[in-house]
Amino acid sequence: MTAQRTFRIAAIPADGVGIEVVAAGRAVLDALATASHGRFAFDWQEFPWGCGYHAEHGRMMAEDGLDQLADFDAIYFGAVGWPTVPDHVSLWGLRLRICQSFDQWANVRPVEFLPGIRSPLRKADDTDLGWVVVRENSEGEYAGFGGRNFGGRGDRGEVAVQSAVFTEVGCERIIRFAFDLARTRSRRKVSSVTKSNAQQYGMVLWDDVFARVATDYPDVETESVLVDAMAAKFVLRPEDLSVVVASNLNADILSDLGSALAGSLGLAASANLNPERRFPSMFEPVHGSAPDIAGQGICNPLGAIGSAALMLEHLGLPDEAKAVQHAVAVTTGSGTRTRDVGGTAGTEDVTAAVIDNLAG
Ligand SMILES: NC(=O)c1ccc[n+]([C@@H]2O[C@H](COP(=O)([O-])OP(=O)(O)OC[C@H]3O[C@@H](n4cnc5c(N)ncnc54)[C@H](O)[C@@H]3O)[C@@H](O)[C@H]2O)c1
Repeated sequence: MTAQRTFRIAAIPADGVGIEVVAAGRAVLDALATASHGRFAFDWQEFPWGCGYHAEHGRMMAEDGLDQLADFDAIYFGAVGWPTVPDHVSLWGLRLRICQSFDQWANVRPVEFLPGIRSPLRKADDTDLGWVVVRENSEGEYAGFGGRNFGGRGDRGEVAVQSAVFTEVGCERIIRFAFDLARTRSRRKVSSVTKSNAQQYGMVLWDDVFARVATDYPDVETESVLVDAMAAKFVLRPEDLSVVVASNLNADILSDLGSALAGSLGLAASANLNPERRFPSMFEPVHGSAPDIAGQGICNPLGAIGSAALMLEHLGLPDEAKAVQHAVAVTTGSGTRTRDVGGTAGTEDVTAAVIDNLAG
């Protein structure tokens, strides 16, 4: 039977638990496609890039890898990094190369509190919590500008410069994205995070753009908070958060804090979006390759499955995205949980339970 709509998806499991969680997410998506009775299908192509590929070819992805990816409807990514390759080489050679070359400038990272999962926050037991971190994903501290030099000065003479780059265009597009997202939520509020007291150029530009853009959204509440204060607020007053927008590095750190507060790094989903759709967007769990637990069948697949739900939304299947999110909540609520969230189930058990609960 030919499906009415076939989505071409590039799968890049890459390294460690990335391989296990991408298999889990694919199984959920394929189960949905089967249940759609021909309404939609996924045409997968898997790419073997990552640290294993590096060992054989001396590079993290094929030379023409970006051309190979350019025509897919979306990219479904696992995690990159392995002790055999320096982390800055593996990250820049694959994930950051894709994000920057495809101008995936908006990184959306929901912080969701699921039933049956214990948060380290006592407040989470009786307070409705949930917010979204919107991360500037194309410039800022991860722009890659700088260098190392003066090694010739002899022992301990080397100098490194790592510059952060903030452009008015880059700040404005991510801040507007955050405001537009806030308008879709029950609490219309955007919290802007910088460190503009200490970083007086780029982050003051960010603050200025935030203040200017905010005037176009009078219906949205705003606040500007320094990143150290925001880290404390995540723990002490999380009920006051809805959309948190921050630079590349600050949002990277804050979103890991958020997922730890929700119960585990293994739960956190993310979307790297090129909102103009000139390039494919990329969906991946927030966590890394977790070499400490890789290959044991015990990693939590829910971050990757949640990322698959974000991909469904992006592909124009919002009801299916909701069905996956609902199935995840039923699964955790009914006690099928991996060890990182206090259970005993394996990766495949949790995946099978999510698939069973899709029908419910
Ligand atoms: N997006 C990415 O591809 C990405 C992100 C972060 C780190 N990394 C890379 O991953 C490697 C390991 O980095 P790290 O140890 O700092 O971070 P990590 O996210 O891999 O692991 C941190 C901790 O969280 C646990 N964890 C992670 N994912 C889990 C899951 N699905 N289920 C249960 N527990 C999980 C790990 O066991 C570990 O204790 C490094 O090479 C790093 O560069 C890649």
